[in-house]
Amino acid sequence: MYDSPLLKTTLGSLTLENPFILSSGPPTSTGKMIRRGLKAGWGGAVIKTITPDDMPIRDVSPRFTTWKGECNELFGFENIELLSKHSLSYWIEEIRAIKSEYPDQILIASIMGSPDPATWQDLAEDVQNAGCDAIELNVSCPHGMPEAGVGSVIGQNPRMVQDLTQMVIKVADVPVYVKLTPNITDISPVALAAALGKADGISAINTVGCMFGLDIETFEPLPNVDGYSTYGGYSGPAIRPIGLKMVSQIAKTVPLPIMGIGGISRWQDAVEYLLLGASALQVCTAVMWNGYGIVRRMKKGLASYLERKEYSSPDELRGLSLERLTSHQSLDRKIRIHPVISNPGSCIRCGRCVVACRDGGYQALELKNDGITINTDFCDGCGLCIQICSTGTLKQKSYLVVSD
Ligand SMILES: Cc1cc2nc3c(=O)[nH]c(=O)nc-3n(C[C@H](O)[C@H](O)[C@H](O)COP(=O)(O)O)c2cc1C
Repeated sequence: MYDSPLLKTTLGSLTLENPFILSSGPPTSTGKMIRRGLKAGWGGAVIKTITPDDMPIRDVSPRFTTWKGECNELFGFENIELLSKHSLSYWIEEIRAIKSEYPDQILIASIMGSPDPATWQDLAEDVQNAGCDAIELNVSCPHGMPEAGVGSVIGQNPRMVQDLTQMVIKVADVPVYVKLTPNITDISPVALAAALGKADGISAINTVGCMFGLDIETFEPLPNVDGYSTYGGYSGPAIRPIGLKMVSQIAKTVPLPIMGIGGISRWQDAVEYLLLGASALQVCTAVMWNGYGIVRRMKKGLASYLERKEYSSPDELRGLSLERLTSHQSLDRKIRIHPVISNPGSCIRCGRCVVACRDGGYQALELKNDGITINTDFCDGCGLCIQICSTGTLKQKSYLVVSD
């Protein structure tokens, strides 16, 4: 197991051996699996959401659909899975046992009661008495549960978030994190509501509501449950930009510790979340696709990055990029870019930059016998050609616009 003192992380009142936590989901759906995850070196785990025993969970089959690249690499993942199928008493036993076997790693109990807040209070008391280090309120599951008056219907309503958080805080003596949904126009009022309810921290994001697609031969939606489907939750690398936006907005709104979630699969993704205000990171889909072992590479990568940048903890990265996120109107208009050919030998003459510029840009590029020519008088500096160039031949050059 890889470890480095550089990875020690502060999450509110908790200390983590490293900032990587298994998110609530299939990799944390049994005590045995959580033990294997912790053994592999994760800093902590959030248990698959626990519900009261009179809210039985019955999953459909199949319940996943994926968007993959040519080498089976995962871009996006849809699920219509529900919550833990294990009873409350099963989890109480498991929390006790896991905490005695892994006292130094953090165990967080994700809970969801019925629309009656008293059921959330009962769950909170039971899991904290069993010894969990923190509680996460799942007010963000986008499928199935909203039809029962819970999940993201609570997370989309700031008043309900504040009231529910306040009710749970009344009985809680461990930190309470509220897990927010991205399926809302503006996440800031909800983060504020959690803070007003006296939450100890925020987890964000849960999955993004989606309709993955259809089998266009049979007209049946995916995932196909006997010819029918329902809206699901999108996760994996495709949602990272959404998670980063939401986490930065939360960090700008409330001074609470944040567990950043959404599309994290590499240490570089983790660094981005930290720089935008997260204190720790949660990972679900990347573990489902690649196994618990990915944490080793993520820890190694983050530790060498911290060493190279001369930081002594992930804590020191927290929020460093936040002030660079500003309004569109205040962005500089005097600095522009245009493409330059950095290494003519690397151009494979595919012509994609020319087509992109011709049909989606400003007609500034031409492919001639001796290669690409750039007419900077036509170029508007959008950067499309540089984005599409697959060989890195086109690079950007900045210049200052002299206004009259
Ligand atoms: C199959 C599946 C089941 C999930 N179940 C839960 C759950 O029970 N409770 C919860 O709070 N989040 C659940 N999630 C959401 C994840 O915890 C996480 O917020 C989301 O997938 C985004 O992170 P990722 O891109 O790393 O997967 C689930 C996600 C997936 C893919």
